[in-house]
Amino acid sequence: MSYSRILGTGSHLPSRTVTNADLEAIVDTTAAWIQERTGIEKRHLVSDDETCCDLAEAAARKALQAADVQPSDLDLILVATTTPDQFFPSTACLLQQRLGVRGCAAFDLQAVCTGFVYAIGVADKFIRTGSAKRALVVGAETLSRVLNWKDRGTCVLFGDGAGAVVLGAADQPGIISSHLHADGAYKDLLQIPGGIGNGHPEACFMEMKGNEVFRVAVTTLGRIVDETLEANGLAKSDIDWLIPHQANIRIIQATARKLDLPMERVVVTVADHGNTSAASIPLALDQAVRDGRIRRGELLLMEAFGGGFTWGSVLMRY
Ligand code: COA
Repeated sequence: MSYSRILGTGSHLPSRTVTNADLEAIVDTTAAWIQERTGIEKRHLVSDDETCCDLAEAAARKALQAADVQPSDLDLILVATTTPDQFFPSTACLLQQRLGVRGCAAFDLQAVCTGFVYAIGVADKFIRTGSAKRALVVGAETLSRVLNWKDRGTCVLFGDGAGAVVLGAADQPGIISSHLHADGAYKDLLQIPGGIGNGHPEACFMEMKGNEVFRVAVTTLGRIVDETLEANGLAKSDIDWLIPHQANIRIIQATARKLDLPMERVVVTVADHGNTSAASIPLALDQAVRDGRIRRGELLLMEAFGGGFTWGSVLMRY
């Protein structure tokens, strides 16, 4: 049995930035409230003619280049997204066509903000079992398209973007473990109620009970940290970097405290990106790899929590 490891990372943000002060003009909020309660200062939003697949493609090309892998070498393309360009074909199939390759498996995975962690867990299993040797794993979102811009409790929190990694088969891990969970009993706390299957395509806007989501997120992420360390016989001090889902700086700080990890060892992008859902972890990872903070051989813990609820972690040696 082989392992999987990251061969290269990439990311892409739309060029349009929207500051907290810009939001004061469109919804009843203040820049200071957003900054204090969430840590967010600005976010990148797509323009009218930009799509989720555009972001995914730009991030994927950078990851392929960093990995020195050709699209024709890929056995699997996996896109974690809640905002696909179309109901079908999947964004992964659209991306495959853009990359100019045919035949390899390609599908989308929907686990909202935990999507990238789920996708790494799935791609790792493809590689470990020998079904794939090289996998492109992308987290890409255009959540701005499903925000209610009159709801100050949600629209100030989210941003658009994409991040990607190329995973390759290796003799040593790489990905050490992934722990994936869900509990649909929480479906009403964070949702887009509309859909084709339930006959309400007009209701495709996010609704959230922010306060309750916050409380469950903090305790659940604490538990997933414990689960990951215990499963691998590790101490908190073994972790070199925490790469958390970027929803709210206060949630991130709570998880870092749980790990006794100083904030200098936590990759934080929430101030500049907001919550980019499935894109947030690969965006943060790519930033810290490219600026030289994360080095080969270091132990990384990724964790995420999102609608469903879904939550999970990936432990890896970079
Ligand atoms: N600007 C100004 N005031 C706002 C506001 C905004 N954008 N959004 C909410 N408020 C107000 C509320 O209306 C409320 O006012 P009231 O006391 O007069 O009713 C007050 O701020 C406090 O609201 P509350 O929801 O208790 O604030 P909070 O400290 O919990 O912060 C969130 C709100 C949304 C930032 C926070 O709950 C959160 O981050 N939740 C988790 C969200 C998340 O991570 N979701 C994605 C999971 S992947």
